[in-house]
Amino acid sequence: MSDTSTFNTMRTEIAGIDVLDLARRFGTPTFVYDAATILRRLADLKAFDHVRYAQKACSNLAVVDLVRRHGALVDSVSAGEVHRALAAGYTPEGTPPPVVYTADVFTRESLDLVVEKNIHVNCGSIDMIDQLGARAPGRQITLRINPGFGHGHSQKTNTGGAQSKHGIWHDQIDQCIGRAEAHDLTIAGLHVHIGSGTDLEHLSQVCGALEKAALTVGPSVTSISVGGGLPIPYRQGETRVDLDAYYALCDAARKRLAQQFGHPVTLEIEPGRYLAAEAGYLIAEIRAVKRQADNLFYLVDAGFNNLARPILYGAYHPMSIAPADGRTDRQERDVVVGGPLCESGDIFTQEEGGFVAHRRLPEATVGDLLVIECAGAYGAVMGSNYNSQPMAAEVLLEDGQAHLVRRRQTFNEMIQGESIV
Ligand code: LLP
Repeated sequence: MSDTSTFNTMRTEIAGIDVLDLARRFGTPTFVYDAATILRRLADLKAFDHVRYAQKACSNLAVVDLVRRHGALVDSVSAGEVHRALAAGYTPEGTPPPVVYTADVFTRESLDLVVEKNIHVNCGSIDMIDQLGARAPGRQITLRINPGFGHGHSQKTNTGGAQSKHGIWHDQIDQCIGRAEAHDLTIAGLHVHIGSGTDLEHLSQVCGALEKAALTVGPSVTSISVGGGLPIPYRQGETRVDLDAYYALCDAARKRLAQQFGHPVTLEIEPGRYLAAEAGYLIAEIRAVKRQADNLFYLVDAGFNNLARPILYGAYHPMSIAPADGRTDRQERDVVVGGPLCESGDIFTQEEGGFVAHRRLPEATVGDLLVIECAGAYGAVMGSNYNSQPMAAEVLLEDGQAHLVRRRQTFNEMIQGESIV
């Protein structure tokens, strides 16, 4: 399956719902998620035995609940994400574990929580094995292995290799077996996640690394997880990753292990971006149009406090204009798109290193809307209150209805917890 993506620079609706109406009803900036897109992407992965949603990509309760209702399991990387999983209706216990806590450390709070709620733990450090074993001996655990290589869309999202803090180094598995035995913990599964926004070439190597690690641990292993990392097409003309080819490689590795161990081995995948990114749109309003020498700026009411991916990684997001007067026959021109923050890096059209780039967009004026697309993953979740801007509203479109699933933060909510001495 490799369809080529197309993006238009003019947009009047999202999933059949008028963009102007959405802005009028919910204000701007607002994240809008199309449930049908999330479910389509989830269905793409049905060959895998289990899809475990990496909720860090978009952890709004309504989105977590949506994927839960459609059969996905969930990954949590903090006490907060465990609480979210439970608040969205997941039960703590089950086979396979509905909720997994994956991390390289336990905070004191997360250790207490996984012990108290009996949440399955995927250990990314030997200290985690010891800390869990001391509190909850006799449990099953899985190990997150760093296979010695990694790859991501940016060096900052590469989670494998010696420069990465993630996972247990691949040559320390024997040590883990010893530590697990000492605490009567069973290593029931292995997990490898090499990075976010990687490619098929690198993902293909994950299966081999998992197979090798599983053979070292032996037949106590009943599940393998290939982690997340699936890329999505952010740019015009980019093709979708060949999931059939990827599945075939993972399945072959799993079958060889099952054969070797004499029992079935289940195969999990743990996507975040793949499920959430294309479903999400950030709607902002153009509040100023200004020229600085040769650069024409569209300045909108969303900034890197809402979508940090461009300033962090030089990430590219498709953009479109939703015209306030409904006129879609506008000339295009090269523009720079920025936000309201008091920092020069508050530019949505930038390359890694902070270099301003131009984007060809329709002519627009104050009051027109700008839609930043493919913003569902690592958008709202990475939002902040920088410059005392409130967290954006979030809306889920499901069955033709727009549901407000997070209202815009109020000023009082923003300062809640602060006090003057
Ligand atoms: N599993 C583990 C253990 C992870 O650390 C991650 C992502 C995932 C799964 C999901 O990866 P995905 O399928 O979404 O690629 N803020 C960055 C991405 C950081 C990813 C962190 N870990 C961005 O905006 O690109």
